[in-house]
Amino acid sequence: MSMTPSDVKATLSFSDGSPNMDLPIYKGSIGPDVIDIRKLYAQTGKFTYDPGFLSTASCNSTITYIDGDVGELLYRGYPIEQLATNCDFLETCYLLLNGELPNAGQKEEFVESVTNHTMVNEQMQFFLRGFRRDAHPMAVMTGLVGALSAFYHDSTDINNPEHRKIAAIRLIAKMPTLVAMAYKYTIGQPYVYPKNDLSYTENFMRMMFATPCEDYKPNEVLVRAMDRIFILHADHEQNASTSTVRLCGSSGTNPFAAIAAGVACLWGPAHGGANEAALNMLEEIQKNGGVEKIGDFIAQVKDKNSGVKLMGFGHRVYKNYDPRAKLMRETCHEVLNELGLQNDPMFKLAMALEKIALEDEYFVSRKLYPNVDFYSGIVQRAIGIPVPLFTAIFALARTVGWIAQLNEMIGDPEYKIGRPRQLFVGAEKRDVKPMAQR
Ligand code: CMC
Repeated sequence: MSMTPSDVKATLSFSDGSPNMDLPIYKGSIGPDVIDIRKLYAQTGKFTYDPGFLSTASCNSTITYIDGDVGELLYRGYPIEQLATNCDFLETCYLLLNGELPNAGQKEEFVESVTNHTMVNEQMQFFLRGFRRDAHPMAVMTGLVGALSAFYHDSTDINNPEHRKIAAIRLIAKMPTLVAMAYKYTIGQPYVYPKNDLSYTENFMRMMFATPCEDYKPNEVLVRAMDRIFILHADHEQNASTSTVRLCGSSGTNPFAAIAAGVACLWGPAHGGANEAALNMLEEIQKNGGVEKIGDFIAQVKDKNSGVKLMGFGHRVYKNYDPRAKLMRETCHEVLNELGLQNDPMFKLAMALEKIALEDEYFVSRKLYPNVDFYSGIVQRAIGIPVPLFTAIFALARTVGWIAQLNEMIGDPEYKIGRPRQLFVGAEKRDVKPMAQR
């Protein structure tokens, strides 16, 4: 990793006559430069204030690059469009973890090691049994992934690169098994064990949809669509859940526990929960009159007091069309054609909503475009994934990004425990009064 010092320096001056401070600037390989404020507090006694990290780079990274104005996403330099078209998910995982795409031999070895770790400890199903059958899959996944830390003691020395590698393989391999188990538990069907002569994604779909009385015949178009969902969600630089994983892991905690923290963060509707929320929103509009009622719905979204948002629209970084949404839109057409669902009312509704939102001044002026979750929900629903499971599938896919980012952080000699500071605006020092005087 290299941060190249810039010839330009920033100077911070104060209107009260305090001395100026020169701040070094570093250049990345692409993207905005950063102003290094690490010595700011020591030299000025002041912190910076940036809730929501609107202007703060929390780390340097070589993994994923996003240009939100252009609508560009690169994994290790490769455009997402090329990866989604020419590579499969496990090649993408290899790339994110190792920095380069695998050659044929490396791919074979990687696929084999992931495949060899697909089973979970048999005790996991007893653990799962403790949950209510109607528990939300993300509640279950947070528990199950956290529980992995109790099962795999031999890969948890985060200072050992070999351990970090094994933990990464285990997580990538076991997530599909856990998501499918969580689903089967909800619907009261027996768990389907992994079958290692299938591809990663075929295996996942079989564990989801096969039963002991009927096997699952993989459909090439649907498997490819699911694989693409995995590729598109694999990493997205320092988003909320990834930053959570880094912060959690910065204490030196067990890697499975750090990933469980990421799962918990992803659940929220402003982040990974948006695919579920977007589909629930479409179902709600459909129930209340469908395409005819879009106008009323948009009016509600624009009314700041309503608290209604157009789910699946807007992004902190993309101020242009999300490149993942473009690819997902394409996949959406393929899947609906394959299943003969071109006239699916939900898809028609989504298209009509998209058209209106892309033309409406409210959305145009705020640069609110559809994000990946707007379409991924429709695709997953068509494939037969139940709506509450959408975010768990996002977690499955994002696991590789989380672990790649965690391992990058731990391997960085500059890494420190994450410890933000605050602007304190609460009560000043005061004395506790006896109960009778309070
Ligand atoms: N519907 C209506 N108005 C919106 C929306 C939306 N989906 N998103 C942003 N706005 C408005 C917002 O009210 C604000 O308006 P104003 O300037 O008049 O106050 C303006 O646009 C800027 O929004 P913001 O809240 O300052 O933007 P943010 O960067 O803090 O929020 C976001 C980004 C993704 C949380 C937000 O756009 C949102 O809640 N979208 C819906 C949920 C969603 O689809 N999330 C998935 C993100 S992609 C998958 C992932 O990475 O997890």
